Amino acid sequence: MRARFSSLQGDFVFLDAPGGSQVPDEVGAAIARTLRDASANIGANYETSKRVEHVLATARADAGRFLNCSPDDVIFGTNMTVLDFTLSRTASRDWKEGDRILVSRLDHDGGVAPWIELAADRGFEVDWIDVTPDLRLDLDDLERKLDERVRVVACVASSNAVGTIVDLPRVSELAHAVGALSARVTSPEDAVEEACAAVRRALHERRTVLLNLPLQVQALDVPDGALDLAAPPAARAAVEPTAADTAALAEVLERARRPVFVAGRGARTPGGRDAVAELAQHYGALLATSAVARGLFHGNPWSLDVSGGFSSPLAAELIQGADLIVGWGCALNMWTMRHGSLIGADTTVVQVDDEASALGTHRDVQLGVTGDVELTAQRVLDGTGGGGRR
Ligand SMILES: Cc1ncc(COP(=O)(O)O)c(C=O)c1O
Repeated sequence: MRARFSSLQGDFVFLDAPGGSQVPDEVGAAIARTLRDASANIGANYETSKRVEHVLATARADAGRFLNCSPDDVIFGTNMTVLDFTLSRTASRDWKEGDRILVSRLDHDGGVAPWIELAADRGFEVDWIDVTPDLRLDLDDLERKLDERVRVVACVASSNAVGTIVDLPRVSELAHAVGALSARVTSPEDAVEEACAAVRRALHERRTVLLNLPLQVQALDVPDGALDLAAPPAARAAVEPTAADTAALAEVLERARRPVFVAGRGARTPGGRDAVAELAQHYGALLATSAVARGLFHGNPWSLDVSGGFSSPLAAELIQGADLIVGWGCALNMWTMRHGSLIGADTTVVQVDDEASALGTHRDVQLGVTGDVELTAQRVLDGTGGGGRR
């Protein structure tokens, strides 16, 4: 091994902790070979351009294998810090002033400075995740600091200074599990409407809403008459699916040999859960959930638990093997579908959502049904006549 490093042939002692600064000679040779044989713009029709594209594709495939990720997730650049500056600027294009960024005290400055610079330029807030006395990332501190305004948790996988390894799956789980919305009462005049709006969101979006009532506002009086406007929000009428859509859904279910149902936020009502589970039972479908709906089918013998990055290997295999995936009130986003890799090449994808605009936002769907989860599952069940379970 040593013989492959020209830099180690002398008596100089390298104590650089990350260990990445010295490279074996073949790295230098490969760079030189690439510059010699394949130096051109990419995307053109001529031979050298094709060669560069081949070098890039091979390098990304190799790096993807090494890092256990998709080649699409691999980006080469000048160095880590410059890439992080580019990433932070690109990721934040549609963020709003007041959005938050969490950086970690375990990190190298290359993982922190780009986010601090970005926050200063764009009016974002930065908060630090602390370390424990034994210099691990403090996950309790992370949990306390996470809220729905956090757009990114920037943290290193392993500290280059002290060598502690971060439980990244757990960090990612905590970050993505934050489904709570936070709302604030800003003044006595607006208190009633703001509180009603919070209740409407909780009811209609089926989300947890944290309503903050600042002490200084608590101390003030609500204007006369304002409380008369306080009324419980009208329940939103459940969206009835069209007969044509439920018939189309019944037809794909009839044809499916290995269906998997993935339930999301929109299925998180007792009625929604039961109707989806009953339909799954009728058609022999396995049951999974997105992260926010995790636990919905707890105790059901056909439950695969969560779909996505935290699926068990067996659950991932079974989802990948499905010939039909139905998302019930579930966006089928990149986390739930592992960037689409949980969907087989020939799998039919169906989405049921009471917001028509949610259909097909993250995945191409062969059938999109606009309808309330419980009503839609119930209508399909009604059409089956109840018998013929499989
Ligand atoms: C953990 C960690 N992050 C970031 C960097 C910065 O990398 P670069 O010099 O490629 O910007 C280093 C460099 O040692 C590092 O060890």
